[in-house]
Amino acid sequence: MKYILGISALYHDSAASLIRDGKILSAVQEERFTRIKHDSSFPTNSIKYILSSNHLTLNQIDKVVFYDKPFLKFERLLETYLSIVPSGFSSFRIAMPVWLREKLFLKNLIIRELKNIEKNFDKNKLLFSEHHFSHAASAFYPSPFERACILTLDGVGEWATTTIAIGNKNHLKIVEEIYFPHSIGLLYSAFTYYLGFRVNSGEYKVMGLAPYGTPKYKDVILENIIDLKKDGSFKLNQKYFNYMGGLTMTNQKFADLFDHPIRKPDLDKLTQFHMDMAASVQSVIEEIILRIVKYIRNKYRINNLCLAGGVALNCVANTKILIEKVLIIYGYSLPPVMQEAHWDQH
Ligand SMILES: [Fe+2]
Repeated sequence: MKYILGISALYHDSAASLIRDGKILSAVQEERFTRIKHDSSFPTNSIKYILSSNHLTLNQIDKVVFYDKPFLKFERLLETYLSIVPSGFSSFRIAMPVWLREKLFLKNLIIRELKNIEKNFDKNKLLFSEHHFSHAASAFYPSPFERACILTLDGVGEWATTTIAIGNKNHLKIVEEIYFPHSIGLLYSAFTYYLGFRVNSGEYKVMGLAPYGTPKYKDVILENIIDLKKDGSFKLNQKYFNYMGGLTMTNQKFADLFDHPIRKPDLDKLTQFHMDMAASVQSVIEEIILRIVKYIRNKYRINNLCLAGGVALNCVANTKILIEKVLIIYGYSLPPVMQEAHWDQH
């Protein structure tokens, strides 16, 4: 028997899970114990609960796997700040001491926390997986498919923001990627921020607000903010964003483009403008996702699709994929294989 303990922590929604011989035995989120929404602390409560409910000690676990690679993430932060010097200095000054103290020495921190649970925990059991690989695995392995394409749509991991992977039995391989700062998740989060909701939390409110509006600003977004190719690959025009080096998601140019300031949630009521904005960004991401899915289907000719990452929580967009599939079954023809790709091939 082989036990693997998975840990996600110190970003948002910390959690732990336990696998035995490829089967999930337990999976639990730290916020359920601490009652702190999106709790990002090390999931000690979750790990203890999982071990006790499965009558195990930490030393009986064969491998402990952390969900991403902190050194690669640090490299992205450093390169991003260096690329926009000196404008990114203020957030560099805030982010770097935290990273240097905690995240860069994250391996030591994890070992220390695990030793708090079990004094003689063997640190050689600790492994690190790439962020998007973890996402793809989380969707493919529990799926009923032997073979599938896995599309991960996320804010950002180490560098990747959008990946296509192929899963075949117990093999999983990432085959195409789009890199930071070009991210469909960060695009949606930027609109979440602009509409006065909390980033990494209030995205579902934008999705819920969308049906109350009409996508009046879809063309403005596609003409100015995002360069969307036929194959669904894209680039974000960084002129309108602040997340690379600043402490906010969008900037004044973004507000000027739509002729409205950022909504202050405590002061400004939601108006038809905000509903139309939500409808517009929702329509844009549906367009991107449908183009990517068609590209995947054309290129890889695999009928099964798994979705992972934060953007895959957008159930309205997921429904559009299902509708598209039904249209294909009833004779809707796919467009020819696309060109002008931004995809980076492996
Ligand atoms: Fe993620």
